[in-house]
Amino acid sequence: MDPTATLDASLAEIEAGFGAAFAAAADEPALRAAHAKILGRNGALTAALKEMGKLPADARKTAGQRVNTLKQKVEAAFEECLGALARAARDADLRATPFDLSLPGRAPAPRGHLHPISLVREDIFEVFKGLGFAVAHGPQVELEEYNFGKLGFPPDHPAMDMHDTFWVSPPPRAPNAKVLLRTHTSNVQVREMLTNKPPLAVVSVGPCYRCDEDMTHTPMFHQMEGFLVDQNVTLAHLKGVLTAFVERLFGKRKVRFRPSYFPFVEPGCEVDMGCTFCDGTGVAGGAPCRQCKGTGFVEILGAGMIHPVVFEHCGIDPEKYTGFAFGTGIERPAMLKYGIPDLRMMFENDVRFLAQF
Ligand code: PHE
Repeated sequence: MDPTATLDASLAEIEAGFGAAFAAAADEPALRAAHAKILGRNGALTAALKEMGKLPADARKTAGQRVNTLKQKVEAAFEECLGALARAARDADLRATPFDLSLPGRAPAPRGHLHPISLVREDIFEVFKGLGFAVAHGPQVELEEYNFGKLGFPPDHPAMDMHDTFWVSPPPRAPNAKVLLRTHTSNVQVREMLTNKPPLAVVSVGPCYRCDEDMTHTPMFHQMEGFLVDQNVTLAHLKGVLTAFVERLFGKRKVRFRPSYFPFVEPGCEVDMGCTFCDGTGVAGGAPCRQCKGTGFVEILGAGMIHPVVFEHCGIDPEKYTGFAFGTGIERPAMLKYGIPDLRMMFENDVRFLAQF
């Protein structure tokens, strides 16, 4: 076939087909696809245009005009259909049932909240900030020197025994360092006293570790530590601050101080408060209260006057300064405050439990 006839045939085919193809397009993407089949890069009319080069020069002019007229027709029909589709979409929108403003909204996804341990930590910080204490933090991976040595633990103290302490391999750059996971937060006392001068009033909360696991112990637990150093600090200050602490955290209740021993305090004491489960009566449900074993008291703090040896180790003059320190686990106050019967529930990550706070 000669090129003119070929071109004629393709133009005729395009001319006959585009109207129906555009009319059949149900939406804008379909319409644009139909348009591309004719005028796109690989479209039929685009191909016809390319064929024009093969025509004899005298035929080219008329062919060019035909192609252009067809192209204009196609474009006009395309614009027309595009407009019709847009109008149809708008009409459908207007006819649709109006948006019902009275429908309830979508419920927001439930928000998380702080873990009970963190809640108690924040409560403790609030109480001590109110009493003028600053908040400090210490490392959980600690040198034996700061966890035990400077606190005056004798070298053979049972707390350092492999049973209680998780030892950590020393870093390559200090192969002889004795490194452990801190067994209590008292390392913060040492670090704060080494780097700051009295007067000091500091409180700290954080994780501690001991190789221990049973009903009332988990290998990781939390402690709170606080201390105050200044001139003329006495046991009366210790009693006043800790009584205020117990009352602000738990409400008014009995507080009792019993002599006790910790290597880094002298004298040392343990602090008990009226049991929250039986309200200090020792009786719950007609039987001796299980939480306080019928005594009406639960132990909540270890405390004492900071030992002069600790001051010496930390570069503070024990002739000039005195101070008191106190510490406690966080889990136990949390259990007492929220009535949690089993310590391990705190770390099982069961949302049915956690959602109750
Ligand atoms: N660090 C002690 C412990 O882990 C608690 C304590 C802190 C006691 C400060 C006295 C003073 O048991």
